[in-house]
Amino acid sequence: MGIFSLITGRPGSSGFGSASTAEQVTHGIDATHLTVIITGGAAGIGLETARVLALRGAHVIIGARNMEAANEAKQLILNEDKTARVDVLKLDLCSIASIREFVQNFNALDLPLNILINNAGIMFCPYHLSQEGIEMQFATNHLGHFLLTNLLLDKMKNTAKTTGIEGRVVNLSSIAHQYTYKGGIRFEKINEKSGYSDKMAYGQSKLANILHANELSRRFQEEGVNITANSVHPGLIMTNLFKYSAFLMKFLKFFSFFLWKNVPQGAATTCYVALHPNLKGVSGKYFVDCNEMTPSPLARDEVLARKLWEFSNKLITSISKA
Ligand SMILES: NC(=O)c1ccc[n+]([C@@H]2O[C@H](COP(=O)([O-])OP(=O)(O)OC[C@H]3O[C@@H](n4cnc5c(N)ncnc54)[C@H](OP(=O)(O)O)[C@@H]3O)[C@@H](O)[C@H]2O)c1
Repeated sequence: MGIFSLITGRPGSSGFGSASTAEQVTHGIDATHLTVIITGGAAGIGLETARVLALRGAHVIIGARNMEAANEAKQLILNEDKTARVDVLKLDLCSIASIREFVQNFNALDLPLNILINNAGIMFCPYHLSQEGIEMQFATNHLGHFLLTNLLLDKMKNTAKTTGIEGRVVNLSSIAHQYTYKGGIRFEKINEKSGYSDKMAYGQSKLANILHANELSRRFQEEGVNITANSVHPGLIMTNLFKYSAFLMKFLKFFSFFLWKNVPQGAATTCYVALHPNLKGVSGKYFVDCNEMTPSPLARDEVLARKLWEFSNKLITSISKA
């Protein structure tokens, strides 16, 4: 899949391409036996993903920090299909307390968990720290999802074991994972203002999303767990994600309109990786336009992935003790 395929929408070996929509890539798939959590499912690509997964019959739990928007998203899905199963639970990914509370509330629903879609994200924000003192893009895009996934793993493993159905974790990364700090992750200076670049901090967090999925995948295989973990780049889609650079991006889009997708196309790769039977057993891979692609050398670095895993664990332990 190259730039020609992106522009023309020519399908790749999966049979789908940049022009495919989330509805098209899940056509005919029955998801009525599946429960899915999607973070940031109240807006943008996440909302479309939630809508289409619910349309295919999945029980969808939207994790969102803005409950008003989440309830509106739920209503929008129900307006289309009043039999859709959608629940909303409060989740702020830059707060460890909120993540723990979300998991408690989800566990209280006594549901299985087949699929976790780590979709929520922020991009290019000016330097600031989360309440717990972590640089905001790293905290929201990576660390929050890292903790959330860890806290949900027992539930996912149990579901996969008792049902015999393969579990799936899907991390929303970005092609921007290629534009990160030297060495990939600023382990020694993760929260430092000096040298902070809003663009590279985003790239760093999106690199972390791929490394996280890859290390999860390696651990699942080592443990013999029936769960896969993959990452995706959804394409370029004009959503609220661009709020910190809206003027510049709208200007750039004017000249590069042929590279952009609409939201239904933007949700296609996530839905494909979450649901499609073609990907049974496929794990530790990176997908673009519903086809496997090779990410950057740093994203394929297994030592870096393990280092990030240990680092993230230590960071969470130190925040929890504070
Ligand atoms: N759009 C693109 O071109 C593009 C390209 C590559 C990758 N991606 C990735 O795709 C994912 C979805 O992006 P999008 O374009 O759909 O963006 P979006 O429309 O801005 O949606 C992002 C969602 O994440 C939520 N979120 C942000 N911070 C959160 C937090 N601390 N806790 C819980 N939820 C939070 C937002 O909630 P609020 O409304 O409350 O902020 C929103 O619902 C992101 O991971 C992004 O990096 C997007």
